[in-house]
Amino acid sequence: MSERWGFTTKAIHGGKMPDTHKSVAPPIYQTATYYYDTAEEGARLGQEIPPGYVYTRWANPTTRALEEKIALLEGGEDALATASGMAAVSCAVLTAVRPGDHAIAPSAIYQATYQLFADMLPGYRVETTLLPDSSLPSYERALRPNTKLVFIETPTNPMLGITDIEKVAALARAHGATTIADNTWASPYNQTPLANGVDVVVHSATKYLGGHHDVTAGVITGTAAFIKRAKKQVRLLGTTIDPFGAWLVIRGLATLALRMERQNASAQRLAEYLAAHPKVSAVHYPGLPSHPGHAVARRQMRGFGGMLSFEVKGGYEASVRAFEALQVGKRATSLGGVSTLVSHPAGISSVHMPKEVRAAAGIVEGLLRVSVGIEDLDDLLADFDHALRRA
Ligand SMILES: Cc1ncc(COP(=O)(O)O)c(C=O)c1O
Repeated sequence: MSERWGFTTKAIHGGKMPDTHKSVAPPIYQTATYYYDTAEEGARLGQEIPPGYVYTRWANPTTRALEEKIALLEGGEDALATASGMAAVSCAVLTAVRPGDHAIAPSAIYQATYQLFADMLPGYRVETTLLPDSSLPSYERALRPNTKLVFIETPTNPMLGITDIEKVAALARAHGATTIADNTWASPYNQTPLANGVDVVVHSATKYLGGHHDVTAGVITGTAAFIKRAKKQVRLLGTTIDPFGAWLVIRGLATLALRMERQNASAQRLAEYLAAHPKVSAVHYPGLPSHPGHAVARRQMRGFGGMLSFEVKGGYEASVRAFEALQVGKRATSLGGVSTLVSHPAGISSVHMPKEVRAAAGIVEGLLRVSVGIEDLDDLLADFDHALRRA
């Protein structure tokens, strides 16, 4: 039944609610452990697959409700919630590779994911290739006989690069490699990579899924077999989500479609406004027909999302003046919530990338990244107008 519901109905009513008292809002099982009455019951719960409720690091009813909703929204067989987006990325990646394997990811991705591939995986004897761009030929050239993981992030951070999910997933599948897509920036409202042939989807639920800048969380979804293996990583590494965190994401999901529709529309309008602004030299937003990934984004996305970046004429100093003059947009890292957040990638969010990698990815000194919130559009346009006068 719930598989046939529309997105918003699934987001609100999907998944089993862990309640014995018919409360409309899901209860929060804020417990670390559960009691049992007999030794036999304890032994049985511990051996159940999926495990019965014995210990929250293994399983929790509130967390399970979130996992079922995510699987439904992304079209996965099962899902797994984690303590953060990076917990989801790293546990999914560590599930997909073993020592001696090779993994591929673009360079221009979320900086901690970049560091995972550049610095950490080689320490576990996993060879990595970081691509100069996220085009199909780049992925194709990087394949080796031992390639076991192909990582996709689309749109990319902070340049809004678009990868053709279907083509890259088909390439990886033909090679026998697992494909993981980070769907954080699009959200499942705008894009469902599993439907395009990807094996595993990860999210920072800190962003659009939670949507209110008040929770750090992550999710992994895909086949039941992959999730079972990933669950072992999460249990052993201890990257378990707190039940209250899971509840906050459930609460956020109820309004995901409404927020996303507003953010899609406002970002499109802001991108068009900035593209016509005399103090702006370039705007990166897949909803603009001038964007190189526009046609692919049109095909694989339901909406173009709430993220954009733009280059202020006059470089670093001018962009800092505009950045510091914003009054509605908050100078903050993170994204995907109700408040408009603006960051300065050359100054903060991409600062861990080597300078030459940043330059090759097009992250210029005057670039500002905007996560468009749900404020009144007129107030946002006036804020950027005011800020750019200071540039
Ligand atoms: C695309 C993407 N993936 C993963 C993460 C990591 O998420 P978290 O901060 O929840 O660990 C982020 C954070 O900004 C992100 O933008």
